[in-house]
Amino acid sequence: MSRPVLFFDSGVGGLSVLAAVKKALPEAPILYVADNGGFPYGTKSEEEIATRVPALLGRLVERYDPALLVIACNTASTIALPFIRSALQIPVVGTVPAIKPAALLSKSHVFGVLGTEATIRQPYVDHLSEEFASDCTVIRQGSANLVTLAEAKLRGEKSDLALYRAELDRLLQQPEGDRIDVVVLACTHFPLVKEELEAVSPRPLLFIDGSEGIARRARYLADQLARKCELKSLWPVKPNEKHPPKGQLLYTAPTEILMPFRENIKKRGL
Ligand code: SIN
Repeated sequence: MSRPVLFFDSGVGGLSVLAAVKKALPEAPILYVADNGGFPYGTKSEEEIATRVPALLGRLVERYDPALLVIACNTASTIALPFIRSALQIPVVGTVPAIKPAALLSKSHVFGVLGTEATIRQPYVDHLSEEFASDCTVIRQGSANLVTLAEAKLRGEKSDLALYRAELDRLLQQPEGDRIDVVVLACTHFPLVKEELEAVSPRPLLFIDGSEGIARRARYLADQLARKCELKSLWPVKPNEKHPPKGQLLYTAPTEILMPFRENIKKRGL
């Protein structure tokens, strides 16, 4: 098998990024790894994440020799991205809150960032806000419950919409929260429950995430790598093939965690 793109998340959240990356790299084999042993990340300390994630990724890179790594997790990226990049010899795409697009899209100049508790307290988020949203009020809210609700949804379980409303209210009821018009979904689990969040919104809110940007970055890095190796593509189309072969999606070691989600993953075209 040609070198895969390795996807990494604490659970099924990375699947919300996967669809966009599959579209941008249709020919790439993709390996999806969920760290079910470490789930959830959002309630862990910086020390735990900064130790666990690079160690795991080092082993995975050694074992699967990926061409490219996508850390499809805001918590891991905002805590450990610089260290992971310096420790690994392959290009790494991280997932960080879509603060730049939110600042451009917000008409009220007040927007919300919904992430895990660990993500929203990161200096990385301060820096993004200072750099790209200095003319905006950025209101942050951590939610561990939305992570659990997203995992439950993908297992096919029904959850009361009031639970979603309670999570959204905690953001909207902060000072100036009534002026929020854009909400950044700063955890990859949250786009999986965007429909529910939209359904319980007390007014029209624009929910955005970073998956398209991640996909563009993955394409760019794959093309750059191919040029460096003097190849047209890392995953070339064979001469007798009219269409590029469809990248296989391989779920690795923690397949067991994904088994209960299989039906819903299929239904959502993931
Ligand atoms: C979690 O495991 O708590 C969610 C991780 C994330 O996407 O930030």
